[in-house]
Amino acid sequence: MIRIGLVGCGHIGTVHAYALQQLADADLVDARLVATFDDDAQRADRVARHHGGRPAASLDSLLDQVDVVWVCTWTAGHLAAIEAAADRGLPIFSEKPLAPTYAECERAAAALERVPHQVGLVLRWSPVFRNAAEIIASGRYGRPLASTLRDDQYFPIQGLYGSTWRGDVARAGGGTLIEHSIHDVDVVRWLLGDPASVSARTACRFGYAGIEDAAAVTLAYDDGSVATMTSVWHQVLSRESSRRLEVFCDDALLWTEDDYLGPLYVQTSNGTEVIDGQPPEWAQRFTVPEVFAKAIAHYAEPSKAFLDALAASGAAAVGHPGAADALAAHRIVDLAYTSAANGGIPAPFREQISGELRS
Ligand SMILES: NC(=O)c1ccc[n+]([C@@H]2O[C@H](COP(=O)([O-])OP(=O)(O)OC[C@H]3O[C@@H](n4cnc5c(N)ncnc54)[C@H](O)[C@@H]3O)[C@@H](O)[C@H]2O)c1
Repeated sequence: MIRIGLVGCGHIGTVHAYALQQLADADLVDARLVATFDDDAQRADRVARHHGGRPAASLDSLLDQVDVVWVCTWTAGHLAAIEAAADRGLPIFSEKPLAPTYAECERAAAALERVPHQVGLVLRWSPVFRNAAEIIASGRYGRPLASTLRDDQYFPIQGLYGSTWRGDVARAGGGTLIEHSIHDVDVVRWLLGDPASVSARTACRFGYAGIEDAAAVTLAYDDGSVATMTSVWHQVLSRESSRRLEVFCDDALLWTEDDYLGPLYVQTSNGTEVIDGQPPEWAQRFTVPEVFAKAIAHYAEPSKAFLDALAASGAAAVGHPGAADALAAHRIVDLAYTSAANGGIPAPFREQISGELRS
């Protein structure tokens, strides 16, 4: 059995613990949560009580007891946990963003590259975006001409995401762009490839220093196409988090308003095809209240894939997505911040990304 340790037992740590427990209880993986650690001992204790394992007294003590580590602290805590686990040769699942600054992201990526690893850019596992990626890569509707991705969420220091660190630049690294839309940047780069340049404007309307709550980013491509991303944190508490993607190709418009199952709509001169995404069939074996079913299936699928890879290939296991993709997304975010600080001047992407880590 693969012994799992969880570092950081807040919101997403609890979601992962729940998904890992469901996978183990349904005999879908031969792996189980055996140890939890959080700077707030009560949180480590609560997750262990509900989802398995025992609270560890320290990070070192947790690392002594496990075969793989799930890093789910707030963003500023990722690097130390990643480096400590990598120093012991332990496989790592790390939540996004890798770290608050690009320099720390490079260090985190370098440490991850030393061991089997996977990054929690979970939209890579959304059936709706996989369907879009497959269609765009096939070229059957021609070239992408222009794309938009709008992402909005209520300012996440309240409600479901009630955690004050998202208003603190030292712990979060920035606002809506790095904390939430790192997912979007990764999806756009996956669908459309590396941009030639990045330009952006950001705004800080709610007064948290260094925490932009509105960002408009433009990615320009060598072939003349463009993608724009609008990312906003608002105060409409009935809008938890939503995304809308539109990709205009020569011969079709692809769009969706849901970031997990879709549907994906494909409009051509012949009408509109509706492509429904499906959760993995094995998720039917979960014993999860209906209200959590989709979210747990969404997080369980990448976790199962990583654990399956570890079971099959051990130290040679490769998780998806990995550090190179995550670092490339961070590079785009970093260039967007640089551009915004310089009045929106475009910043070139390729010449600055390390050839070694380019995926
Ligand atoms: N992939 C996703 O969909 C997704 C969703 C939500 C959050 N996240 C990411 O997960 C991370 C955690 O977010 P959250 O919403 O769970 O925050 P949270 O505040 O609910 O939980 C963070 C926990 O980390 C603990 N912690 C902080 N530093 C620590 C350290 N050095 N050692 C041990 N514990 C430490 C805190 O005490 C807290 O319990 C963030 O980086 C966030 O961006 C990812």
